[in-house]
Amino acid sequence: MRTPIILGNWKMHKTLGEAVEFIDELKTRELPESVEAGICAPFIHLSDLVSGSKETSFGIGAENGHYEDSGAFTGEVSIASLADLGVNYVIIGHSERRQYFAETDEAVNKKILKALEKDVVPVVCVGESLEEREDGSYESLIKSQIEKAFANVTEEEASRVVVAYEPIWAIGTGRSATSKDANDMCKFIRETLHSLYNESVAEAVRIQYGGSVKPENIKEYMAEKDIDGALVGGASLEVDHFVALLEGAK
Ligand code: G3H
Repeated sequence: MRTPIILGNWKMHKTLGEAVEFIDELKTRELPESVEAGICAPFIHLSDLVSGSKETSFGIGAENGHYEDSGAFTGEVSIASLADLGVNYVIIGHSERRQYFAETDEAVNKKILKALEKDVVPVVCVGESLEEREDGSYESLIKSQIEKAFANVTEEEASRVVVAYEPIWAIGTGRSATSKDANDMCKFIRETLHSLYNESVAEAVRIQYGGSVKPENIKEYMAEKDIDGALVGGASLEVDHFVALLEGAK
C-alpha cells in the first residue's frame, strides 16, 4: 500500500509573515494521519517554516535546488544546503522551471540524484503541453521525461522518488484533467517504471496528479487506482483549502 501524499506548491506567493501565519494556523488543525502532507515554499521562507513545523506531522519542501553542493552559481541554492536546513522535499523539473528557466532533462536528473544522496525526497514533475496532448505525442514525451529523470537512479533509490504528472494545460487554468485521463497517464508512468526497473519499484513509487486540483475534485482523483496524491498550487494557499485536500485524500 502506498501512503497518499498531498504537497502544496506555493510558487512565488506569500510574504514571510503570511507563510508563518499559515504554518502557525495549520499546526492548530487536526490532520489525517493516513495522508503524508507537505508545503513547498520559496527559499527565503524555508528556515522559518522548518523551525516552525518541528514536531508536526507535515513536512516542508523547496521548489527547486541546485545539484552542485557549492560553487560560483550566483542566485542558486544547493540541495545540499536545503538538506542541511532540514527540508524534506524538493520539487524538481516543474513545467514552469522547464519553460521559463530552461531546465533540461539532464539538470532534472542531476538534481534527483543529488536529492537522493542527501536524503531529501525528490518530487519530479513531468507533463505535456496542450499541443503535445492534441497531436498525440504526449505518451512518448512523458516516457522520455521519465527515462531521462531516472537515469543512473538505482532500484533501491527509485522507490523514494515521488513523480508528479502535471499536464501543462491544466496548471492554474481551472481546466483540470478528468480523473480517468489523469489516471491513464499515472498508469502509463507506472508501466514505464516497470520497464525501467521491475514490478516492485513500479508498485512502490508514488505518483501524484497536479493541475487545478481543489477540495471539490480531490476525491475523484484519489479514487483512481494509480493516483497516489496531488501536487497543488492555487488551492494550497489557504489553510482551510489545504486541510480539505488532506481530508479528501484519506
Ligand atoms: O505544482 C503545482 C501545479 O503547478 C498545479 O498548480 O493547482 O494552481 O493548477 P494549480
